[in-house]
Amino acid sequence: MVQREIANREDVILLVDSFYEKVQQDNLIGFIFNDIARVDWSHHLPIMYNFWESLLLDSHNYGRNAMEPHFRLNKLIPLEPAFFDRWLELFEATVHELFTGTKASLAITRARSIKGIMALKMDRINHPAASNNGDIPVVPGK
Ligand code: HEM
Repeated sequence: MVQREIANREDVILLVDSFYEKVQQDNLIGFIFNDIARVDWSHHLPIMYNFWESLLLDSHNYGRNAMEPHFRLNKLIPLEPAFFDRWLELFEATVHELFTGTKASLAITRARSIKGIMALKMDRINHPAASNNGDIPVVPGK
């Protein structure tokens, strides 16, 4: 397939649909979506179209809290860095398969940045001792 620019909502829909097809079949993170969160795709996908259309094409049609469902999910299954790494790997592979150009690069930059923040937030919750800032001794008295 010839890669092209991400130019409109149809392109965003193709990107998002292709990405979540990979996610659902993935042997490391698929089960989180399929078996733990039991995602209702007919509800989730249109939200993701708006999210990515806002980030890439300034459509201003996503006004939700992107972090919130991940905090909830993290209580059911700790979202470890390896899960986020795979998420990003699949996202980048999807972008490269289908698209090229500045918006494709922007999609990857934005995904890396949000993934980094999200992974850090979850890691601080899941491993509080490992991520203290050095003021609090990990072993009291030492
Ligand atoms: C291992 C990593 C991740 C997992 C397992 C995960 C899983 C999920 C799940 C289960 C939902 C809720 C779907 C529903 O409505 O039922 C969700 C929502 C969402 N995710 Fe993720 N996610 C991950 C990483 C990311 C990253 C890195 C981003 C951003 C770049 C992201 C963006 C979003 C957004 C925007 C929503 C919709 C939030 C809303 O408005 O309701 N996710 N995710």
